[in-house]
Amino acid sequence: MITIQDNLFHIQTNNTSYIMQVRNGMLENLYYGSKVHADVDVLADKLYSGYGSDVVYNSKEDAALSLFHLNMEITPVGKGDYRSNSIEVEFADTNRVFDLKYVSSEVVEGGIEDIGLPTAHDGEETLVITLESPQGLRFYLYYTTYPNCDVIVRHMRVMNTGEDKVVLRKVMSYQLDIPNLGYNLSTFTGAWGRERHETSTSLTIGNHSFGSTTGISSHYCNPFFMVSEKKATEHTGKVYGFNLIYSGSHYGSVEVNQFARIRIQAGIQPTNFSWTLNNNEYFDTPQAVLTYSKYGKNGMSQNMHAFVNNHIVRGEWANKPRPVLINNWEGTYFDFKESKLLSLAKEAKKLGIELFVLDDGWFKGRDNDTAGLGDYSLNEKKLPNGLDGLARKIEELGMKFGLWFEPEMTNPNSDLYRAHPDWVVRHPDIEPSLSRNQLVLDLCRTEVQDYIIENVNRILKSASISYVKWDMNRPLSDTYSKVLDDQGRFNYEWTKGTYRIMREIVNANPHILFEGCASGGNRFDLGILCFMPQIWTSDDTDTYERTKIQTGTSYGYPQSVMGCHVSAAPNHQTMRMSPIEARFDVASIGMLGYELDLTQLTSAEKKVVAAQVEFYKEHRELLQYGDYIRLITPFEDSEFCNYMVVSKDKKEAIVIEAIGRVVPNSEQVPIILQGLLPDVKYQVSGRKHFINIRTFGSLINHVLPFNVNSEGLLMHVASDIYMMPCETEEYVAYGDTLMEAGIKQKQRFTGTGYNEHVRMMPDNAARMYYLKAIE
Ligand code: DGJ
Repeated sequence: MITIQDNLFHIQTNNTSYIMQVRNGMLENLYYGSKVHADVDVLADKLYSGYGSDVVYNSKEDAALSLFHLNMEITPVGKGDYRSNSIEVEFADTNRVFDLKYVSSEVVEGGIEDIGLPTAHDGEETLVITLESPQGLRFYLYYTTYPNCDVIVRHMRVMNTGEDKVVLRKVMSYQLDIPNLGYNLSTFTGAWGRERHETSTSLTIGNHSFGSTTGISSHYCNPFFMVSEKKATEHTGKVYGFNLIYSGSHYGSVEVNQFARIRIQAGIQPTNFSWTLNNNEYFDTPQAVLTYSKYGKNGMSQNMHAFVNNHIVRGEWANKPRPVLINNWEGTYFDFKESKLLSLAKEAKKLGIELFVLDDGWFKGRDNDTAGLGDYSLNEKKLPNGLDGLARKIEELGMKFGLWFEPEMTNPNSDLYRAHPDWVVRHPDIEPSLSRNQLVLDLCRTEVQDYIIENVNRILKSASISYVKWDMNRPLSDTYSKVLDDQGRFNYEWTKGTYRIMREIVNANPHILFEGCASGGNRFDLGILCFMPQIWTSDDTDTYERTKIQTGTSYGYPQSVMGCHVSAAPNHQTMRMSPIEARFDVASIGMLGYELDLTQLTSAEKKVVAAQVEFYKEHRELLQYGDYIRLITPFEDSEFCNYMVVSKDKKEAIVIEAIGRVVPNSEQVPIILQGLLPDVKYQVSGRKHFINIRTFGSLINHVLPFNVNSEGLLMHVASDIYMMPCETEEYVAYGDTLMEAGIKQKQRFTGTGYNEHVRMMPDNAARMYYLKAIE
């Protein structure tokens, strides 16, 4: 609900209030947090005598008002607010100073969905506040409510109503000033193979800025960030979460000033950005997502998760169960033929897998990553029966067929590049830089967009294709487009070009499940999720690393958008071993896939995988859409990482316990659960795990009644057909006991002694528990 009363604005979601007022013609932020009454008398800043040498904004109107001491939604430039401003413009006379005055406000039904960029859908109401500078620069501030998930979406439109041109240099989607109660800033940073690790900083005086300049949202720094009370935990304390619905270069900053105030802002990356507005032209920023919870980081995450599931993801696959897939990439890389793919598919089908995905390598000439990108002709040597023939055979096996594309790129060694060398992103006089042997197509150009749309749609119609993996394997460089007069628009226009391609292809193929990807998670953002309901989280599928990557990702994004695969051991990114059961446990809270050569598994492992897939399908809804709760974040203070999902009615839950490095002769604390019904009794059952007997090495001789060579043929043969059942754990307990006291699990192997009750957990092992209400 949004109310306007005497220039007082109160935006309410189910549990939050966002309150502003007009003060001396400006927009003062009075409060953002848990729902309260709009008591202006206590919420407004009291400024009566001024501070030291600070600049007085307008001494005729108010001799004590300095903008440096006010919380504002948008600030006049050059008028004494020395914090970093969310707007920077240059007028025709090169002046950069401007004042602002409140003009009007209104509440309209629904959200704003026509800004030329992807937007959130199904907003309830929108407050529009207009301010204007004397030069005729008009600012429309939009606030749309999503009450059930406690989200407010903000963006800004800047319009030039003056005669002379104005150049926008920095134009953020929002500015939020709050009192500094002592906060930490967490950004989600990393690189290829280690995306979105939480980087936490205690906020002290100064400006903490972050973002991406790579042309895409990037694995270096995700657009999602959070500001949390210093004492906040996963379950308690005040936490704000912020994100952008944008996939290009982005910027965020959190600035603490000397007067106990924090300014938060985010939007399009100002580096290399400029936008000229002539008379009556306007510019819309991307939408930004703001949420708040007093129930800690999990509370904030659950708001974001509900928002993504219900207001970002759209189309036929929104909130729908997603298939278990097999992807051939790590099983074959570029080295495959139809017969190999079919044997992989047959094996997958036997194990219960539902979708076969053919990854990179199906284009003509694409036997490695140096050729073929951009050409949409088929590699007939590998696929003599065509995509259609392969898709039909896969469907005859009883599986769906999916296909990989990388539409935004070309290799210099491609027919496309030879025909249109000018279609790539580059300055005509500068040799463009390669990354993964490829160049970026100039998506600012409509004819390039059309080429991609026509070719991808043609391929999608040429065979029965149910799923698309949309890859993007390099950041941008040499950012110049010959169709732009102002290169300051490049990244925005290029991103918009990508969105047009995605929109046209997705709309033409509404039944297809699209999965975004960019060398793993190099473009994991809300812009992409407006078109594709899931994204490949990371190329790194190592169990230990994945718990960190998925946990980091979970702060801003639900598990329903994370592609999570079981891959081979040793892992291809880290060469680390982890048990096959752990690889599944960690991948299971997400969109499950297998990405290894299943034909190489032992018969014992195949049985285990079949049981995993069956378990996943049985509990798919809970695993994909249950409320996600972090219990212990990865390996922070201990070698454990625990998290769980709970069904909406709280009658079912699944808990994952992952271990990093084993500490010998150590004990562990009980797993303390969350989110259950206190007075309901639950049956707690450990999912049956099996362990490869070769894990024991020569210790096996202490378990068996006879001696074997642990590296010998007998062990190899035995381990092919037999995996040892692990301990069973079954408990019955009330929710309150599970949440207050927790489960004291069976003893873990501590370096001495073994019997069937001991939990054999080597490095990178995991366990999974299923809880069901029984009365
Ligand atoms: C990068 C992706 O992240 C991988 O999963 C795979 O699709 C390769 N590209 C193919 O080139």
